[in-house]
Amino acid sequence: MLNPIKLANTNFLSSLDTSCVEFLHILELAKNFKNKELNIKLKEKVLGLIFDKSSTRTRVSFQVAMSRLGGTTIDLNPTTSQIGRGEPIRDTARVLSRYCDVLAIRTFKQTDLEEYAKWSSKPVINALTDLEHPCQALADFMTIKEEFIDFKDVVLTFIGDGNNVANSLILCGALLGVEVRIACPKGYEPNPLVVKKAYETYKNKNLLKITSDPNTAVLGANVLYTDVWSSMGEENQKDEKEKVFNGFTIDSDLVSKADNDAIILHCLPAYRSKEITDEIFESNKSRIFDQAENRLHAQQALLSCILQ
Ligand code: CP
Ligand code: NVA
Repeated sequence: MLNPIKLANTNFLSSLDTSCVEFLHILELAKNFKNKELNIKLKEKVLGLIFDKSSTRTRVSFQVAMSRLGGTTIDLNPTTSQIGRGEPIRDTARVLSRYCDVLAIRTFKQTDLEEYAKWSSKPVINALTDLEHPCQALADFMTIKEEFIDFKDVVLTFIGDGNNVANSLILCGALLGVEVRIACPKGYEPNPLVVKKAYETYKNKNLLKITSDPNTAVLGANVLYTDVWSSMGEENQKDEKEKVFNGFTIDSDLVSKADNDAIILHCLPAYRSKEITDEIFESNKSRIFDQAENRLHAQQALLSCILQ
């Protein structure tokens, strides 16, 4: 029977905090949890959820994952805790980590997440920052593996904003040796430090391509992925971005240029008719709701390793 493994890094702040072997092990565990072949009970463990931004999937999938592992969660947000009053992260982290066994944090700055991890005596998980969304990427690659088995055969094309989701796909692609193409308007490219780290991680540097032409980026691709054009915290840029991202909608024309068996992914929540048409969102190529379900299994697997 497959067992959780102890991860070399205490925290999961970035997609590069696991090795390729650890990442693949988590995906295998997740598959086992999904198939109900694995039943692990971690009695009395408590996950603290600190969410400075809204969430449906991440919050609920963490809560259900902990419940299935026999533990519980405490859900904190800025308005009902002293976090909103401005209590320093270093104080909150030292207190909460005396009560909880692990913390999952959704916040704006990656440096704030790192500050939590620095002062917490228990592991910290990135539940989304402006820079990365590594738990999402675990579920994304689990969904891709369900379809294609061998990552080496996969071309993953992300069309849209070079944001947190794109950054994590790039880093995981580098870790796993997946060809990743990012198509985004000029000025909206992924974070340059993330791209640098990805090139340092890739064994074959030709596998990462960043372009402003979605039409060439989708040619022969196996996975087409998109996310909102304006992320949480960027609401004031919405009108401007909708103009700049014209031509970056995943529609039937773009899909027709991809591989015949290509699948469509979206981390959700989506704005239909902006980054993706309703037709493609609802098409039989879409694996969007399997991807959302896999958040649960992937996080259950991650927690089982972190809390063992
Ligand atoms: N994909 C994702 O993280 O969704 P939520 O914002 O609903 O958690
Ligand atoms: N890029 C999006 C992802 C939401 C899950 C955001 O940060 O709002």
